[in-house]
Amino acid sequence: MKVLGLETSCDETGLAIFDSEQINNDNQGLVGQVLYSQIELHALYGGVVPELASRDHIRKLVPLLNELLEQCDISKNDIDAIAYTKGPGLIGALMTGALFGRSLAYGLDIPAIGIHHMEGHLLAPLMGANPPAFPFVSLLVSGGHTLLIAAHGVGQYEILGESIDDAAGECFDKVAKMLGLPYPGGPNVAKLAEAGNPDAYALPRPMLHRGLDFSFSGMKTAVHNLIKDTAGSDSDPHIRADIAASFQYAVVDTLVKKCVKALKQAGMSRLVIAGGVSANIHLREMLEAELAKINATVHYAPPALCTDNGAMIAYAGFERLQAGQSDDLAVSCIPRWPMTELPAV
Ligand code: KG4
Ligand code: ZN
Repeated sequence: MKVLGLETSCDETGLAIFDSEQINNDNQGLVGQVLYSQIELHALYGGVVPELASRDHIRKLVPLLNELLEQCDISKNDIDAIAYTKGPGLIGALMTGALFGRSLAYGLDIPAIGIHHMEGHLLAPLMGANPPAFPFVSLLVSGGHTLLIAAHGVGQYEILGESIDDAAGECFDKVAKMLGLPYPGGPNVAKLAEAGNPDAYALPRPMLHRGLDFSFSGMKTAVHNLIKDTAGSDSDPHIRADIAASFQYAVVDTLVKKCVKALKQAGMSRLVIAGGVSANIHLREMLEAELAKINATVHYAPPALCTDNGAMIAYAGFERLQAGQSDDLAVSCIPRWPMTELPAV
């Protein structure tokens, strides 16, 4: 089954073709993908402007689809089904991809399905020939969400813990801004941290011993104060690298400790990490080391499939379509959508 995936929930226009007949040891079933980032468009305003995002998705969808079909060397008529992001996200941005996908499917007389963006992230590490088996604990760390989930199957998600304030990615973005680094902050903070000493400054690990919920707002304030009180934090490359490394270590250490706790609490031995922050190398390495100590394993997607993309939507769509699910002709997007409300497969 060839599924076209469309991702337009925020500031990336992502399209991809997933083909279930092309999964083998060298190929994840991903036939091709195109991604257009609106970062430059929003840079002037210091954050995503929803109306500009919607308008730009509209401008890019048709040319990107044509580029994708050419890249995959297929025609529109070879597509068997279309999956689009139905929520959560910016309502105008979601509507562009949903209307485009639903209408194209209608025109081609093929099924269409609306996908939960975070389920797309959660399932992305399962693309390929040797996916980790259910059940597993999933750490979803993106710009808008920090969630620990016990995943019993596709659509069977039990929330174990979540952030009560800022998401982990959001915290990376805000600290990047404080350090004068451009958006998206995560990769830039990680790069600066490479040359720094993670033990240079002691930063708090909020809520470490309280259940499985997270809080990153206090950590953000602590970094703000550290930058304000440290001479050279705006100019000395060594001091800046030390601040970035200490901050990154504080976030990663918190995430890792909560993951270990969640695995023990759920009685599971597999951890799957997904979402933009799961691209972080320090997080991956520390999880590998700490999980080995408790005989657990960590699984993640290649970096390009961690941040927003159309492939994860195509793959989540395939999982649901092959189980006989699809949406009717009505297009309804859901900007706020708890994952626990998804139907099981
Ligand atoms: O999943 P994603 O692409 O978009 C949302 O659904 O939010 O996640 C984007 C977030 C941003 O906050 C970005 O700074 C963060 O993921 N991110 C990283 C890294 N790459 C992206 N954070 C830390 N380290 C990275 N290497
Ligand atoms: Zn995302």
